[in-house]
Amino acid sequence: MSPTETLRARSAPSAETLRALLAARPVVLAPMEDVSDVVFRRLCRGLGAELCVTEFVNVEGLLRGCRTARRKLELPPDDQPTMIQIYGSDPSRLAEAAAVAEASGPLALDINCGCWVPKIAGRGAGAGWLRDPDAMVSMAKMVVERVALPVTVKTRIGWGPESHMPILDLARRLEDTGVQALTIHCRTAQMGHSGAADWSWARRAREGVSIPVLVNGDIKSAEDARRALEETGCAGVMVGRRAIEHPWIFREARALLDRGERLPPPDARERIALCKAHLRANVEARGEHHGVCVTRRHLSGYLKGLPGAAQLRQRLVVTDGLDRCLAILDEALEGRRSTAPAEAGAWA
Ligand SMILES: Cc1cc2nc3c(=O)[nH]c(=O)nc-3n(C[C@H](O)[C@H](O)[C@H](O)COP(=O)(O)O)c2cc1C
Repeated sequence: MSPTETLRARSAPSAETLRALLAARPVVLAPMEDVSDVVFRRLCRGLGAELCVTEFVNVEGLLRGCRTARRKLELPPDDQPTMIQIYGSDPSRLAEAAAVAEASGPLALDINCGCWVPKIAGRGAGAGWLRDPDAMVSMAKMVVERVALPVTVKTRIGWGPESHMPILDLARRLEDTGVQALTIHCRTAQMGHSGAADWSWARRAREGVSIPVLVNGDIKSAEDARRALEETGCAGVMVGRRAIEHPWIFREARALLDRGERLPPPDARERIALCKAHLRANVEARGEHHGVCVTRRHLSGYLKGLPGAAQLRQRLVVTDGLDRCLAILDEALEGRRSTAPAEAGAWA
C-alpha cells in the first residue's frame, strides 16, 4: 500500500462516521470566530450538539506556524466529532494547510466559502470564491485530492444580486469533485447577516445532489429546526448565533425532532450553573482575565428572562476576577431564593 492509500484506509472510518452522523438529522454547532472554541464546543456538545465545527483557521497563519492558528487545530480526545474549518484564497495553500490540519484528527475538513467580511471575501477567500465558481470548484478538487479525510464546504447561495443563484450548479459541481457534504447559509454574501435566510435554496440545492446538505441561517428555536428540516429535506441543521445566547437550543431541537417533545426553558439554577461552568472552563483554558472577558458575550443570553437579569449582567461585565463573578452569581441565586418567594417560579 502506498502512504496515501494507507492514510485513506485509516481515514475510511471518518467518511463512514460522517455519513452516519449526517444520516441522523444532526443539529450542528456552526463555526464562529472567537466563539466556537474548544470550551464552547464541549459545552454545546454536552447540551446535545452532535457535531461541531471549529472557528475558521487562516491557512497562511497556519502554514507560517502562527501560534493562534496552530492552537485552533488542537482537538483534545473528548472533542469529537469535530470538523476543522480552514479559509484562504490560494488553492495550493489551502490544500497544503488541509494536509496540516488533517494531522489533528478531525472528523472532516471544512472549507470556508461563505465568509462575507470584506477583509476576507474582498481578498478572494471565504465568500470571495462565489465570485468565481469555476475557481472554487477547482480549488475544492485540489483540496479533496490532497487529503484522505472527508472534505466538506460551507458556503452561501451566491455573491449578490444574481437572478440565478450559483448555488444550484455549484452544489452539483462540488459533489463531482468528491466533496462529501455541503452547508448552505441561505443568504448571499452581500446580505451579510441582514435580511431573512431563504431556506428554499437549500431545498433546491439538496434536490440536485446526493451528498448530504446542512441548512443554515436563522435557526433560532427547536421549532425553526424542525421547520427547516421539513421544508428543505436537508440532512441536518446548523445553528450559529442562537447558540451563543441559548445553547440549550441543541437539546430542545433534539427533543422536538426525536420525540415531538417541547422542553421547558432552563430554570434559574441551570442558567446560573451554565454561567459558572462556562466562566470556569474559559478561565482554565485562557487565564483569568481573558477567560472572564470572553465569557461575557454569552452571559446576557444565559441569564435572559430572569428577574433582575439586566442588573446582574451589569455587575458581571465590570467584574474581572473569577471568584468574584462566581460569588455574584451565587448571591443572585441565594438572594432570589430567600427574598423573592413571589418570583420563585422563575428561580425554582
Ligand atoms: C461571531 C460570528 C463568527 C462567525 N465565524 C464564522 C466562521 O469562522 N466560519 C464560518 O463559516 N462562518 C462563521 N460565521 C457564520 C455562521 O457560521 C453562520 O453561518 C451564520 O451566523 C448564520 O447562521 P445563524 O443564523 O444560525 O447565526 C460566524 C458568525 C458569527 C455571528
